[in-house]
Amino acid sequence: MKVSIIGSGYVGTTTALCLSELGNRAINIDVDEKVVDSLNNGDLHIYEPELEKLLNKHHNKDFRATNDYSSVLETDLTFLCLPTPSKPNGEIDLSIIKNSAKKLGKTLRKKDKEHFVIVKSTVLPGTTEKLGEIITNESSKELGKDLFLGMNPEFLREGNAVDDFMEPDKLVLGGNEKTRNKLKEIYRELIRKTELFETDVRTAELIKYANNSLLATKISYANEIGNICKELDIDTYEVMDAVGKDHRVKRDFLDSGVGFGGSCFPKDVKAIKNKLKELNLKPKVLKSVLDVNEKQPIRIVDLLEEKVNGLDGMKVGVLGLAFKPGTDDVRNSQSIPVIKELKRRDAEVIAHDPKAIKNMKEIFQNIVYKNNPKELVDSVDGCLLLTDWEQYKSLEIEKPCIEGRRLNNCRGICW
Ligand code: UGA
Repeated sequence: MKVSIIGSGYVGTTTALCLSELGNRAINIDVDEKVVDSLNNGDLHIYEPELEKLLNKHHNKDFRATNDYSSVLETDLTFLCLPTPSKPNGEIDLSIIKNSAKKLGKTLRKKDKEHFVIVKSTVLPGTTEKLGEIITNESSKELGKDLFLGMNPEFLREGNAVDDFMEPDKLVLGGNEKTRNKLKEIYRELIRKTELFETDVRTAELIKYANNSLLATKISYANEIGNICKELDIDTYEVMDAVGKDHRVKRDFLDSGVGFGGSCFPKDVKAIKNKLKELNLKPKVLKSVLDVNEKQPIRIVDLLEEKVNGLDGMKVGVLGLAFKPGTDDVRNSQSIPVIKELKRRDAEVIAHDPKAIKNMKEIFQNIVYKNNPKELVDSVDGCLLLTDWEQYKSLEIEKPCIEGRRLNNCRGICW
């Protein structure tokens, strides 16, 4: 099938290239000309290892990028894969996706055949319907007649995006029967090996939030138990290994540490928490999930301060800036509040990351960056290990160090 994918972030680009791999022809549309050129030249603009191989295989063949919305007219179906960031008050900011829906609607005015629009971005229940209104208004198409709307959330982890796409735990297809059948055609190869959940649009929207919020809840819960363990000199990983053996619990996402970051969990938990408030329901669990997560960065700085007897004027190394290993993404990384807190306490910050220095330089211009972690360790009074990059595992750290991820046998935030 011919498919257009609007948005060339890691979800959009992964979706486009994996759909090519599944035998579809994919056109990836993005407003950023640099990204478009780079994709068409076979250069991936993000760090996503397996995706690079797919780009090499499919670019200039069954994948191409463009900034021209009218390319949508060559396709049967459009996926919307645009960012839905948080506003400063935690509410979801829909301006990017609404603008795109408007442009898409205007473009579809020129199409005389039916078209399918599928939202992949994470949006609160009711949003896909609102986007549908924008598209019908702009296109003069009629919903259910020549315009079909669906919601198909993604469950892609950055750094594992291709594997998660090609070997999914589940596929959630939200929409009417005709829309779901269209999606089943696209995903034909995957349907044979995974479980299908066919729902209405709102249910599909909420499944994504419920999924991400539960994972974030597991992490904050593990951190709360981990904080108790630290005080009582108990190994929290030993505790969670046993707890996780209960098939009702599962061991995944019970690794305690400096907390969750990234472009998804913090924003999604905040958005669903705000939705509860909007519905006059009091968010209790989700509020605590965020509270615990906000305190972990302060806690790790406290622990280092205790160890080195004060941070004022101390040189502190930060090992790991990306929100997790395998990515150059620093969005909502817990390294950001850690660095802010170190600076607030007048420490001199020296940072290293194998992939994320360039991105972090856009946030902190006036800290020192080192390309060699060993050199960093040698030059500081103490350090914090914040991202569990494999290469830090064997790093000799003879300075006072607190780990935010269990990796190097140093004393940790929860162990
Ligand atoms: C997350 C979800 O895992 C995906 O299923 C989802 O599709 C995606 O958000 C999204 O909404 O687009 P991602 O943000 O790439 O994916 O990262 P995760 O691997 O889930 O990790 C999130 C954070 O939790 C990281 O900072 C990680 O270090 C932390 N974490 C994870 C822990 O602190 N402890 C754990 O046990 C697991």
